[in-house]
Amino acid sequence: MNILGINAYHGNASAAIVCDGRLVAAVEEERFNRVKYAAGFPAQAIRYCLEEARLTLASIHHVAVPRNPYARLGTKLFYAIRMPSFARGRVKVLSKFTGVREALARAFDIDPTKLRATFHRVEHHLAHLASAYFVSPFEDAAVLSADGLGDFASTMWGTGEGGSLRVDGSIAFPHSLGLYYTAVTQYLGFLKFGDEYKVMGLASYGQSEQLDEFRKIVRFDGCSKKNGFRLGLAYFTHHRTGPEMSWAEADKTPTLGRLYSEQMLRRLGPSRSPEEPVEARHRNLAASLQARLEEVYLGMLKKLAGATGQKSICLAGGVAFNCVANGKIFEATPFERVYVQPAAGDAGLSIGAAFYVWHQILGQPRSFVMEHAYWGPGFAKPQIQKAIDASSVRQSNYSVAELPELELVRRAAAIIAEGKILGWFQGRAEWGPRALGNRSIVADPRRPEMKDVLNKRIKHREIFRPFAPSILAENTGEWFARSDPSPFMSMAYPVRLEKRDKIPAPTHVDGTGRLQTVTREANPRYWELIRAFRDAAGVPVVLNTSFNDNEPIVCRPEEALDCFLRTQMDALVLGDFLITRT
Ligand SMILES: [Fe+2]
Repeated sequence: MNILGINAYHGNASAAIVCDGRLVAAVEEERFNRVKYAAGFPAQAIRYCLEEARLTLASIHHVAVPRNPYARLGTKLFYAIRMPSFARGRVKVLSKFTGVREALARAFDIDPTKLRATFHRVEHHLAHLASAYFVSPFEDAAVLSADGLGDFASTMWGTGEGGSLRVDGSIAFPHSLGLYYTAVTQYLGFLKFGDEYKVMGLASYGQSEQLDEFRKIVRFDGCSKKNGFRLGLAYFTHHRTGPEMSWAEADKTPTLGRLYSEQMLRRLGPSRSPEEPVEARHRNLAASLQARLEEVYLGMLKKLAGATGQKSICLAGGVAFNCVANGKIFEATPFERVYVQPAAGDAGLSIGAAFYVWHQILGQPRSFVMEHAYWGPGFAKPQIQKAIDASSVRQSNYSVAELPELELVRRAAAIIAEGKILGWFQGRAEWGPRALGNRSIVADPRRPEMKDVLNKRIKHREIFRPFAPSILAENTGEWFARSDPSPFMSMAYPVRLEKRDKIPAPTHVDGTGRLQTVTREANPRYWELIRAFRDAAGVPVVLNTSFNDNEPIVCRPEEALDCFLRTQMDALVLGDFLITRT
């Protein structure tokens, strides 16, 4: 039984294929069309998933699409009357969406009537919940999804038991933790789609001096029996105008119109424009924003733990990328185990919808756990060789050597330990926005200057954004305050006080690190690399940042070579090949 999941006409368009209950392939369209957060129809992602599964469209039995136009119809109609222009925009997107069958047929140049698959609509947040729970290692768990907006809701929670999910509650438009975070992110001068994580990094540099004001921006009564929060709507505009979103076109990064109102300016002072310097006031506002998010998010999780009696929690939706808040779940709530799959945001909807159909609709039992993130395209040695031969690294300024694995990781670790910057390209590409050791840039965590060096030479990012550590899973507890697994960089834990000066480069200003715990089972070659670095440098940690320069993470060897050549990376490992500048 083959199920194709498609997240189309929404940010992070993606596709996934589930065969007999096991994930075979999953990838975002942005990796192919090279447009960050690309929306539109993910034709290339679908084509890749079919190839990887060795299937044709004709052998797909079910197509699962994570949107249900009929969800919350009453609320939608209520707002459609109040906001006619917003309603018109939504109808336009929905008309595209309901044409997924036609778009699919068009992309593969076949007659739509020849598509034999059954099409299913799965509500946005149900797909989020399914994307986390059905691939988690838990037999039963509480589940929570929180994001900006999808099918007119922002939040949903419930319980997963065996092969079924039960929804216990939800929060509808206009109340949204995601839109709250985005509105203040815009106010602080970060206007691009997906900039929230920058503000999360900035928050650690400030003091949450305006927390009381932020308690008016999001209201949450931790003592009330009902779970949920409300936005102080006077601070926002989206409930009056509708959020202005554009995500119909595949060749563009989505955009979102201004969400904060004049009241926000009156209460917090003038907003920052992107060119202005980031000052103490902005840092403190970012800290207050983050502190209030944590109060509400952790408060809701605490209530969910109480209501369900569960010790395990699965999280999804854009808010689940808040690794700083996630890292505090163990202290702030009764939950003892946390699972966040790597594409917790909207890309993950494609796997969520597909697994929802397999378990909830077809009634199949659980048989799959997502233990690693490597579900994207991989390239065999001849393809890598061809890319190298076609590139200018074959000229005299570079040396190219094919090496056996142990020699390769030993040489690569020595390069890192010398303070050089190494591109590391292996196996299948990561699913989700984090590079997890297959499309990574790796550097020495012991050097305090490494953050600036990386920024100056390759990444060109804001100085307040941290870099992440990858650590051998078995050493986690010796270096971090917690040893709970974080295989997908979804948690930030405090670095042990006595270790902070040993790994200053990926230790954030607040003493935490957004770590990736690496097991030999999940990624043997990356694990070997970190172990070789430990042998050379005495530290079981490398600094890991995504293999890109203000673009989607590289996917093909050609893109890795391009990035290597145009930046000032010192060396590149492509599969079994080590390329160095001479
Ligand atoms: Fe979402």
